[in-house]
Amino acid sequence: MPHPPPQQEFVQKTFSSIAGRYDLANHLLSGGLDFLWRHRVSRLVAASRPSHILDLATGSGDLAIALQKACPSAQVVGADFCLPMLEEARRKNVPRLVQADALALPFRGSTFDAVTVAFGLRNMASFEKALSEMHRVLRPRGLLVVLDFSLPPKGPLREIYRLYLHHILPRIAGWTTGHAEAYEYLGESIEAFPRGAGMTTLIESCGFRCEPPRRMCFGIVSLYAAQKATQSPTQ
Ligand SMILES: C[S@@+](CC[C@H](N)C(=O)[O-])C[C@H]1O[C@@H](n2cnc3c(N)ncnc32)[C@H](O)[C@@H]1O
Repeated sequence: MPHPPPQQEFVQKTFSSIAGRYDLANHLLSGGLDFLWRHRVSRLVAASRPSHILDLATGSGDLAIALQKACPSAQVVGADFCLPMLEEARRKNVPRLVQADALALPFRGSTFDAVTVAFGLRNMASFEKALSEMHRVLRPRGLLVVLDFSLPPKGPLREIYRLYLHHILPRIAGWTTGHAEAYEYLGESIEAFPRGAGMTTLIESCGFRCEPPRRMCFGIVSLYAAQKATQSPTQ
């Protein structure tokens, strides 16, 4: 049975508690591959030549920084509802940061040419509501890029990865951040998050035309690129 989406208050508290060590844990646990994953998103976004980009759930700002590098003349806005995470982004000189809830964005409709969300949608209390807000703030035919964890295809690799995800990763993260429980939640949230065709169907149900998923690193991460196609069914 699918798990319910995470609770906002829990997510905010969890990211507040690990904000200062978030980057270190990220780079350590991914073996530095997180740079490569964000680079891939920023290259994809740059190809659409956007002038206004929203990086939602920007956290400590690494994707906003990669996007700004890839699109030097674009205005990149980073938004997140967790202040301690935004403070980390501010320390790294991300210029435009807004504290905002992805489920109720403080932007007018059709403001952005591209919206990105990396490792963020999975943490939101309603995937549909968040995607509908992304749809609203995107201009017609605007680009949405969702990057998030997934699982390798069924088989031995998936089981080995699960062992790492549920038993090894929380221990390493516990030593690094002092908050192993935040990373136990990570494993649970990945298991509960739609992936592959489930995710493309979800994105399309919110008014986008979604390309087939691009799987990276044996499927532990997936990238979904979609175009705003119609009015969101919930609008
Ligand atoms: C795993 S971090 C990802 C940060 C960054 N995008 C990255 O690639 O490292 C998830 C972020 O999502 C944010 N987040 C979760 N739910 C949110 C919501 N409803 N509105 C805004 N931000 C949210 C959290 O505060 C956290 O900073």
